[in-house]
Amino acid sequence: MQFGRTTLSKFVIEQARLQNSELGALLIDVAAAVKTISAMVGKGALGGNLGALDSTNVQGEVQKKLDVLTNEAILRHCEWGGQLAGMASEEMDEPYAIPNEYPRGRYLLVFDPLDGSSNSDVNVSVGTIFSIFARPTAGDAQPGDYLRPGCEQLAAGYAIYGPSTMMVLTLGNGTHGFTLDRENGNFILTHPDIRVPEETTEFAINSSNERFWEPPVQRYVSECKAGKTGVRATDFNMRWIASMVAEVHRILIRGGIFMYPKDSKDPSKPGRLRLLYEANPMAMLIEQAGGAASTGRQRILDVQPEALHQRVPVILGSKNEVERLERYHRDYDNGSDRPFVSPLFAERSLFRDESHA
Ligand code: AHG
Ligand code: MN
Ligand code: MN
Repeated sequence: MQFGRTTLSKFVIEQARLQNSELGALLIDVAAAVKTISAMVGKGALGGNLGALDSTNVQGEVQKKLDVLTNEAILRHCEWGGQLAGMASEEMDEPYAIPNEYPRGRYLLVFDPLDGSSNSDVNVSVGTIFSIFARPTAGDAQPGDYLRPGCEQLAAGYAIYGPSTMMVLTLGNGTHGFTLDRENGNFILTHPDIRVPEETTEFAINSSNERFWEPPVQRYVSECKAGKTGVRATDFNMRWIASMVAEVHRILIRGGIFMYPKDSKDPSKPGRLRLLYEANPMAMLIEQAGGAASTGRQRILDVQPEALHQRVPVILGSKNEVERLERYHRDYDNGSDRPFVSPLFAERSLFRDESHA
């Protein structure tokens, strides 16, 4: 029985009406772009769009054909409606100006059109991440308008292209999930008011970078890996999909912690993930679901951006684990948990404040 189900259109129009905003129309255009991308990605090799191009994006990453096509899909679906003052994306060096023939609005849309695109060739879940905020007046956006902290986002969300396509979004009033009904093309509210469990025994990190991490992250992960025999006295499980959308989705559904922390691999990059179109929207979704999102030293949503493609360390998920990692960073920074250099003091437990374990 389909009648009476809440479609994404109904949901966002009602939410926007309550807020007296024009976000409803914009989010419906974003959802239309997502449906286009879902169909494109879902064709796999039959669409002829797998593989890489010769080009690199502004971050020096090789672009996939799908990176460019999905970027294009979002621009075309969202530029005409009159709600936007401009758009910015992972795949464009500079912000995109709304073409002259279309009216302008006050919102800014920033997005990662295909997150985890290295996974597209191997048929693993990928996604689209987006964030919406407003400039104070209508008209063309100026580059500085995009450099607003995440706490000013009005809406954020992602689409995940997996066995089913879902859109998960927030307008600042909880985090809600919609599943695409492929038979009729509607997104249906299937996961209202998602809550991240506060406790978890599952962590996600690319541990090939372990030697580049800071000591607080090394400490946290080694304690998880020590399991029942270590200070946590609990066995932990680990997952790494290499698609942030898929990791965040798992955490929203069953809890967990996701880390792409600061590392010393490339000193010019303070993290792997981008603040404006990866970290901020995911941080808003996670906080709206009762979780936490931090750089390790600061709430992600409070970070003041300095550049469009700025990178940031990301630690997000179940609140208690994120808070524990923040505490490990504080301990390290104030000298109460320095790395141990003398073989005499090779055991961390000699120094550890037991009240913190
Ligand atoms: P993108 O494909 O948009 O560049 O982002 C990929 C990101 C993120 O989705 C994932 O968590 C991370 O990169 C994976 O990084 P590693 O390849 O270092 O595991
Ligand atoms: Mn990405
Ligand atoms: Mn991407």
